[in-house]
Amino acid sequence: MNWHASILTLFPDMFPGPLGLSLAGRALRDGTWRVEATDIRGFATDRHRTVDDTPAGGGAGMVMRPDVLDAAIAGVMPAGDARPLIYLTPRGRLLDQAMVRGLAAGPGVVLLCGRYEGVDQRVIDARGMIEVSVGDYVLSGGETAALVLLDACVRLLPGVMGAADSAAEESHGADGLLEYPHYTRPAEWQGRTIPDVLLSGHHAEIARWRRAESERITKERRPDLWARHEAKPAGAGGMDG
Ligand code: ADE
Repeated sequence: MNWHASILTLFPDMFPGPLGLSLAGRALRDGTWRVEATDIRGFATDRHRTVDDTPAGGGAGMVMRPDVLDAAIAGVMPAGDARPLIYLTPRGRLLDQAMVRGLAAGPGVVLLCGRYEGVDQRVIDARGMIEVSVGDYVLSGGETAALVLLDACVRLLPGVMGAADSAAEESHGADGLLEYPHYTRPAEWQGRTIPDVLLSGHHAEIARWRRAESERITKERRPDLWARHEAKPAGAGGMDG
């Protein structure tokens, strides 16, 4: 069985979007994964196809109705469907590589893309939704967040990345450090040169230099990742591996 993503959205045309191209697109065509986007509006029951209503207690904006959402969920998740139901929202738990790895290792995901002010809390509770955020900023809806989550998962599915990429992932990602700087030809460009060590042919020294650069950049840019790296026993999984 292939990895299966079901999307509930008011904008089904946004899928697969960019994931129909490049590595993810090839994996989609070869059946490594599949995705279908379902229009929540198709589950509205009134003649105006209403999916939202005014917030109880007053205030601005609109809230998505629990009955319509529940019917939409039932429509894409047959009884016994083992996939996690994820609601993309800025108030969710921050997506990280550990979560991505767990999702990619499972049967797939059901993603609810919210619009408006949010979703009625009762359907979140009743369906045991996992709330996930892709970052501390607010998008206009969950669709682009869903594309981010899918991209991160699909590249980890067996056979999607080339052997070279998989190997690279082991070598530097395993410690939870950021990547070292990369260079290629020409050897001099606009008066800028490539660090001598990279042209030296000394593989051990090159590895040492890259490791030191990874550590320097991680300390500088992401003290949170650095602290986590330092707290972890050597060889434990990090951002990638
Ligand atoms: N919807 C709006 N903003 C979001 C975010 N940052 N993450 C997930 N879903 C969202």
